[in-house]
Amino acid sequence: MAGDLRTRTCEYGLCDGSGMVVDWDANVPYRCRCWPEQVGRRRARALSREVPRRFRNIGFDREPVPSIARTSPDAVRAVRRYCDRVDEMLEQGEGMWFLGSPGTGKSHLAYLISQHALAAGRSVAIYTGPRLLDEIRRTYGEDDSGSTLDLIDRLTSVELLHIEDLAVARPTEWVLEQLYNIINGRYENERSIIFTCDLTGDETEEGGRLSPDALGRHITDRNFSRLLEMCGDPHVLMGPDNRRAHNTHAWES
Ligand SMILES: Nc1ncnc2c1ncn2[C@@H]1O[C@H](COP(=O)(O)OP(=O)(O)OP(=O)(O)O)[C@@H](O)[C@H]1O
Ligand SMILES: [Mg+2]
Ligand SMILES: [Zn+2]
Repeated sequence: MAGDLRTRTCEYGLCDGSGMVVDWDANVPYRCRCWPEQVGRRRARALSREVPRRFRNIGFDREPVPSIARTSPDAVRAVRRYCDRVDEMLEQGEGMWFLGSPGTGKSHLAYLISQHALAAGRSVAIYTGPRLLDEIRRTYGEDDSGSTLDLIDRLTSVELLHIEDLAVARPTEWVLEQLYNIINGRYENERSIIFTCDLTGDETEEGGRLSPDALGRHITDRNFSRLLEMCGDPHVLMGPDNRRAHNTHAWES
């Protein structure tokens, strides 16, 4: 994968990608300018960054993205802008979020961003909301009591954290606390987050209209407020479920 090769090079052209430079006159090795990034990338390798098969070969000129651009032109334009300047965006800790009803293209847009970040050699962690919390929960069972902190630390320092379906898990106090640790850690370090989120049923306001504020009630206002600052205004993708559009509906009658 292109991302793997790029992580072994030095972006300042000073070392061989190991993060160390040898001063041949004094014969002493010292840390290269890229050392912090190399450490971050090594640490990020332990995180999940697998792109599911469905999203592996996506592109702006391949369906369904042109179709999504017809139904949600502003969102696709914003994603393209982000992808075109992905290095700059990640350096500034800019994020993006996609809210809306099922089957409207939110995940495709989010994966376009991850794909560009990986191709640019950036460290990326990709999780569904439930899987992320599950991994954190699992570290509690381990002997090493530092492992929860260590995982949170990794999740805080990876250059891009991509969370799919942030709001599906029924939030308990514990869940909200972990979410806060991650979101606040990234907020303080000015690290990018992108995420998608379905808001249906209870979380929608009267008349079935989606309310981004409902996410605030769901994940707590202090998480919501940080996300709002990091990700800007949410991109709201509403409309009919395009998964259903492919079906004949014959079974319904
Ligand atoms: N605007 C669109 N026009 C045509 N097809 C689309 C559109 N948006 C999504 N699709 C199709 O719908 C399916 C779901 O897309 P995607 O997974 O990106 O949606 P989603 O919004 O993330 O859904 P969910 O909220 O359920 O996760 C895919 O098969 C995709 O090809
Ligand atoms: Mg999705
Ligand atoms: Zn270097």
